[in-house]
Amino acid sequence: MLNANFRRGTAENAATVARIAADSNVPEALRLEAIEELNQWNDPSPLDRVLGRWQPLENRSPIELTGIVGPIVPDLFQSSEKIKEAGTGLAAKYGIKAAAPQLAEMVVDTKRPVDVRVASLNALNKLGYASIADVARTAIKDQQPALRVTGRNVLAKHDPPAALPALEQAIQQGTTVEKQGALATLAEMPLPAATEVLIRWMQQLVQQQVPAEIQLDLLKAAKAKQSPELDQLIARFNATRPQDDPIGGYLETLSGGNAERGREIFYGRSDTSCRRCHMIRNNGGEVGPDLSGIGIDKDRRYLLEAIVAPNKAIAKGFETAVLAMLDGKVLVGIIRKETDTELELMDAKGTVIRVVKADIDERASGKSAMPEEIVKQLSKDDLRDLVEYLSQQKQKQKQKATSTKHER
Ligand code: HEC
Repeated sequence: MLNANFRRGTAENAATVARIAADSNVPEALRLEAIEELNQWNDPSPLDRVLGRWQPLENRSPIELTGIVGPIVPDLFQSSEKIKEAGTGLAAKYGIKAAAPQLAEMVVDTKRPVDVRVASLNALNKLGYASIADVARTAIKDQQPALRVTGRNVLAKHDPPAALPALEQAIQQGTTVEKQGALATLAEMPLPAATEVLIRWMQQLVQQQVPAEIQLDLLKAAKAKQSPELDQLIARFNATRPQDDPIGGYLETLSGGNAERGREIFYGRSDTSCRRCHMIRNNGGEVGPDLSGIGIDKDRRYLLEAIVAPNKAIAKGFETAVLAMLDGKVLVGIIRKETDTELELMDAKGTVIRVVKADIDERASGKSAMPEEIVKQLSKDDLRDLVEYLSQQKQKQKQKATSTKHER
């Protein structure tokens, strides 16, 4: 019943789900489910939350939830710890002003999950909470790197001169997320001193002295500033890129990515649709190689090259053929099977076509069946996240009994 409301997605459905979330007679698990649905209401994940299967909800128009969520928030705060936490996330997401004191408590409560604390801090900032700078200063000293990142970012908006040294220190000594986050924050700061910090780092980049995992962040921050001096440094760095290397233009995407985001791109994005052709852990298509164990013996350079220049090297067993048939048809596909008299081709949609060799007029080997233009749909952040995700795929593969793959 919850799910039916969620799938239909009208304001009336949302109000029903909100009533279930707030009802203290309903079991906790169900209330949590209701809260999570309200959370995802306007941007439902295309993946089924339980099974991780591709199950997008089409044709749902966004609705205004602040007025529906606002009234139930006090009930949520008076419930179990878990519901209180989930309720905070909800209040943060929809900017419920009356929840500000609870949000502030949540930020500094070290027992709470870090994503709830980060969301609370961001929400307070958006709500214009009066003591936001103090909350941010506390956050900067927290044990959790992700909270420190947000703390510095919020402080930079309210007290830029105080934030600057904290940001500089984070780039030098912080964890990777802090370094990356600090560079992104510097890019947003209108202070000339922030530009100067970036200039110093860009000078180091030109001399190849910046850690690989923050190069992309630095380049993005430098570009965002639109300063002539930084633009010049970017050009100087670009001139050092190896010209004859197919990944020369993308070297800053080799490390520092976020594997979770990479996973979302792999399974969730319809414009690049890796999953249409590739399988990871039995989920996905069969046009391209199963990538469940790709991180075992392939390094990051190989993975990046496979995405940005698929024709450079073609995976074994995935060579393609272009067949001009005697009847004038042209068939293109991956050779799945070949005998003396027959061929089995698989086209880009995954359809298997059986061909009698005597009907072939001419045969040539073709390009990779992985689309060359796929890289145009991907930002450098996307690429870096994908490389990170793929490099972590280290499952040993079991050969499926029914698979015809690699049979020749
Ligand atoms: C239309 C189908 C198709 C799509 C979409 C596609 N690929 Fe591929 N991919 C292939 C095929 C076929 C191969 C094998 C031929 C080759 O190596 O170029 C391949 C090869 C690869 C390889 C090398 C595998 C190996 O064993 O050497 C990687 C890595 C890869 N793809 C990643 C991706 C990612 C990431 C995406 C999404 C951004 C993607 N692919 C989208 C068809 C596809």
